[in-house]
Amino acid sequence: MQTVEWWQNAVIYQIVPWSFLDTDGDGRGNLDGIIDKLDYIAALGVDAIWLTPIYESPMDDLGYDITDMLDIDPVIGDLNVFDKLVKLTHARGLKLVVDQVWGHTSDRHFWFLESRSSRDNDKADWYVWADPKADGSPPNNWLSAFNGDTAWAWEPQREQYYLFHFLKSQPKLNWENPDVLDAILERAEFWLDQGVDGFRIDAPNFFLHDPELRDEPMRPEGSPWPDGIDPKNPMAKQIFQNSFCRPESIEALRPIRKLVDRYPGTVTLAEVTLCEDSIILSSEYVKGTHYAHLAYNSALLVDQPISAKLMKDTLTRVQRYFANGGNCWMVGNHDYGRLRSRWAGHDQDGNPYPETFYHQAAAMLVAMPGALCLYQGDELGLSEARIPEDIPVDQIQDPFGKALYPDVPGRDGSRTPMPWQSAAPGVGFSSREDTWLPVPESHRSRAVDVQTEDPGSLLNTWRRLLHWRKNQPALMQGSCRILDIEDSIFGFIRETQQQRLLCLFNLSPETAYFNLDESMLPGVDAVGAGLLAKRNGNMLRLRGYGYYFGNLQPQSQPANSSSAKDTLADEDVSESESAFVKEEISL
Ligand code: BGC
Repeated sequence: MQTVEWWQNAVIYQIVPWSFLDTDGDGRGNLDGIIDKLDYIAALGVDAIWLTPIYESPMDDLGYDITDMLDIDPVIGDLNVFDKLVKLTHARGLKLVVDQVWGHTSDRHFWFLESRSSRDNDKADWYVWADPKADGSPPNNWLSAFNGDTAWAWEPQREQYYLFHFLKSQPKLNWENPDVLDAILERAEFWLDQGVDGFRIDAPNFFLHDPELRDEPMRPEGSPWPDGIDPKNPMAKQIFQNSFCRPESIEALRPIRKLVDRYPGTVTLAEVTLCEDSIILSSEYVKGTHYAHLAYNSALLVDQPISAKLMKDTLTRVQRYFANGGNCWMVGNHDYGRLRSRWAGHDQDGNPYPETFYHQAAAMLVAMPGALCLYQGDELGLSEARIPEDIPVDQIQDPFGKALYPDVPGRDGSRTPMPWQSAAPGVGFSSREDTWLPVPESHRSRAVDVQTEDPGSLLNTWRRLLHWRKNQPALMQGSCRILDIEDSIFGFIRETQQQRLLCLFNLSPETAYFNLDESMLPGVDAVGAGLLAKRNGNMLRLRGYGYYFGNLQPQSQPANSSSAKDTLADEDVSESESAFVKEEISL
């Protein structure tokens, strides 16, 4: 049997350290806080942790503006605590993946301080410098993703512009320069030697640009919006082909992969969200064995009601472009807002999604093929914090949110601290109440302590599903056949030689029916997953936003043989005893 690497179907829990747990009372979370909560993370049933940047940084952009890639920011901890974290994470059977920001540094990084000082210093070509046009204006029309304006900043000492794709304080490193690549590899190796299990690679599609610095063409009226960008962001007016999203950026990952391959079991997860078509481009990043292992895209980072058609079309495209795997589902993170609020919160008729929908979403996400990132707090069903109701305008922290307020909501809404204890003054996140971002009052009732006590809570549903998933060979390594079902049901069959699992999701508020045909019988309801459906003979009745998992007769066996029951994984045998007892879980 083909070996399945741990990361191929891993569930990766994303942590923003500043917002996880503050153990020293400065209102900002730290590595000690993550250590304190390792048992919580392990009990959730995820496979790995991804930490957003922990390195020394002035924090202009949540740590994605680094001044020293080889050290931990003192607010977050130090290398000794990090070492402890690595060991304790591994002791719980979890992997640890760290963010790496290789496209740019902070403008306070010593490399940049030297580079900007003259045109002939040792680091003169470490960043992207260009002369102005004859009239003194920037070299071309490229726009920054964050300020809605030019991507070039003037440096009087050199009388040249430097390129930045995000903030002016995040100058772009020059990936054409082999010395830059050597320095990056050295830093990557340092973290591998600290025992990390891999890297989340920040925005690799921004690594290289058109060497001739040609203008971006303007997007023709009526043509599709690019992926991963708010349509109100002025940048969306251009087509992304010269300033970033160049094929050369994919090739640029070769030396990184070569290095990582020297550390067996480590993984690279590329972020490919902002581009013309993020499913297609992200799939290019995992083609073959020379680039990233996994990539995530913005296909499900949408802000709209989730329909069966949308899920089916998305999974169909992912299956097509990621024919050899490598997709990592991303449904919410520190850049795109909370799953609960983005997946519209309302159905097509304007009715708010009932709680059931979010339980179903969890079931759907654990069942889809590939890896999955789960963003801290999404397991609690936290809603997006609103500005100004939850976060006063003068407390906006996100530079992008600040620059484009009120046209775009910014990213603070998904970065508020984790609510651990509903009744504690700092919700158990911090001993102080004035935390770096305020915690919305509405998050108290969704705190971890409240949900842990409630067997029907979303947190407990995630826990149940994530643990159940680990014992389903079909979900951990099975193929996936999308069912051609009309209407509101999204369905597929996951299959290995051992198990054939039917997965159905009713994505409408109305009850829906599904007739199990002969090829699907006899079947055994996978009650361990907590079904939101009932079966009567061959007929399945899925309640509004209900879901169903059933173990089907493996296709290789004759229909009258001893049934799927005999082929189930150990844990399922007890489930099979209750087969055909069709109790829904109560929510
Ligand atoms: C990160 C963002 C960050 C940007 C610039 C990304 O894509 O996820 O949070 O602002 O890169 O580093």
